[in-house]
Amino acid sequence: MNYSTATVAVLGATGKTGSQVLAVLSDAGIVARALTRDLSNARQLPFTEWIQGDMNDTACLRTLLEGCNRLYLNSGLSSTMVEEQSRIIDEAKRYGVKYILRLSSPAARPDATDNPGKWHWQADEYLRLSGLQWNVLRPQSFMQNWLGELAASVKGERSIYEAAGGGKKAFIHTRDIGNVAAALFNDPGEWVNAAIPLSGPAAISYHEVAAAISVAIEEPVTYVELSPADARQRVMQKEECRPGWQIYTFLRPPPSVAEQLKNCSAIM
Ligand SMILES: NC(=O)c1ccc[n+]([C@@H]2O[C@H](COP(=O)([O-])OP(=O)(O)OC[C@H]3O[C@@H](n4cnc5c(N)ncnc54)[C@H](OP(=O)(O)O)[C@@H]3O)[C@@H](O)[C@H]2O)c1
Repeated sequence: MNYSTATVAVLGATGKTGSQVLAVLSDAGIVARALTRDLSNARQLPFTEWIQGDMNDTACLRTLLEGCNRLYLNSGLSSTMVEEQSRIIDEAKRYGVKYILRLSSPAARPDATDNPGKWHWQADEYLRLSGLQWNVLRPQSFMQNWLGELAASVKGERSIYEAAGGGKKAFIHTRDIGNVAAALFNDPGEWVNAAIPLSGPAAISYHEVAAAISVAIEEPVTYVELSPADARQRVMQKEECRPGWQIYTFLRPPPSVAEQLKNCSAIM
């Protein structure tokens, strides 16, 4: 199957992955229609048309989806994600979308006990049973996460604070997610209707992250291993008020890569 002739609709288009999906589509000359609640966040690109609005607004969804046959489905993680994305899948079907590529998570699993894992599994299942053609991407942690709190503590204290011990993750650059998305939008081929795990080239610890940043900025950066209790305390002290599920979820050790791959074959 080849979808290359009609517009791709992109949700989460100003986010860490959606912005990269748009950039790669634009470089490939693929026409995209993207949604944001705030046009001042929109990056102007060739072949990209921006629409201002909220994905929970039905009229706005219609403007986004009419005339598109493919959709990148991502809205950020929240307690309303399953309900919102299920409604969008229904609307997409109504407006003639044939293929949906959903950004999921390696935490998605039928027996997940944490909220993000449960929510992603439920949304993936809704898409799988929709009757549309689909893929879900389950990328490891983004390298772009380092540009938030981690960058601030490196800048201010030359230190990284995490409760990951010596654990390793195969962090991925969101540009790589964009490249995979664009390839699938062009033609998912034999990958269609599958959950696809994605990772960076190597699993690395925060000791290695600190060492790499030290080389880049030519100053020593230290990784401070926190206990889960200390990490929770640091999060609670921040001015920004986070929902409790985030505090507890993101301080849990990540599942092993073998476990995550098992999840993916379960849905394929
Ligand atoms: N971070 C990681 O390491 C990691 C790893 C694996 C999976 N994930 C998954 O990735 C997802 C987050 O993706 P991301 O980091 O690319 O997104 P993000 O940077 O958090 O951005 C969220 C996007 O959603 C859009 N959005 C949110 N609510 C909206 C609404 N009501 N109407 C219209 N647009 C709305 C925002 O657009 P505007 O604000 O411009 O309107 C923005 O473009 C989560 O589901 C997470 O579980 C993350």
